[in-house]
Amino acid sequence: MRVYLNGAFMPESDARVSVDDRGFLFGDAVYEVIRLYGGRPFRLGAHLARLERSLAGAWLPPVDREQLAAVVEDLTRVEGAAVPDALVYIQVSRGAAPRNHPFPDPPVPPTVVVWCRPYHALPPDQFLAGIRVVTVPDDRWAKCWIKTVNLLPNVLAKEKARRAGAEDAVFVRDGMAIEATSSNFFVVRGGVVQTAPVTNYILPGISRQVVLELARDLEIPVRLEPVALEDLATVDEVFLTHTGCGIEPVTTVDGRRLGTAAGPVTRRLYNAFEARVRSAADR
Ligand SMILES: Cc1ncc(COP(=O)(O)O)c(C=O)c1O
Repeated sequence: MRVYLNGAFMPESDARVSVDDRGFLFGDAVYEVIRLYGGRPFRLGAHLARLERSLAGAWLPPVDREQLAAVVEDLTRVEGAAVPDALVYIQVSRGAAPRNHPFPDPPVPPTVVVWCRPYHALPPDQFLAGIRVVTVPDDRWAKCWIKTVNLLPNVLAKEKARRAGAEDAVFVRDGMAIEATSSNFFVVRGGVVQTAPVTNYILPGISRQVVLELARDLEIPVRLEPVALEDLATVDEVFLTHTGCGIEPVTTVDGRRLGTAAGPVTRRLYNAFEARVRSAADR
């Protein structure tokens, strides 16, 4: 596999980052993940725009969007041709400098890494069988809209879920279920799709945006409000959205079973999502 590192493509085995890198020492870095469907990136522009917002939020210098798009294009052309279903990962850190909390002065060049790896999607019937989630207190910071590699709270929440016999955890803040460890959180009740509005406490997911567009096209009513923890007991369907697999059905929340597989509204959106990612219009 080839990796792009600081201006050059190289074999993965040659790609080396300093032990002084601030991404490694402080989590002082931001990232993006882009899905390739049929060897082509989906919503690349939206991901690069979000990367720009994350960079600005972390007071990191902007990247050249055209240049980065060309790097993704290059990796996609070669690796994407061999592996049509893949993920492109982009990470930008504040660079390498002797460990000290303030920004390096004078500034050092950022560390920019991009790679493309195969994504192994489950077969649809297995995938639609859904996952189990548990709710956990949201003990993250107040800038969750920045896609930072500082993911320790997310990692701990995911592990908590695993130890509870579930696949993912949903963060609850002020009594509201707002998003999962690496996905946005949706419920369906009485035919209405509900998800938290974009605030500083969630990552504005690209897949979330696609689902909202699909719901509009399918004339499925949407409520942009966080879901109260006590209301979770009465919802009909739950699903998560993220770049990896688009719409991920949930069948159990905190042990309460919603169904044996994806519910009808989730299925409609899932089918529409699958059609959308394969359509040429969204490249
Ligand atoms: C915390 C969090 N929320 C939501 C998402 C979903 O965002 P997207 O649909 O852009 O992948 C992610 C993706 O990594 C995430 O980490």
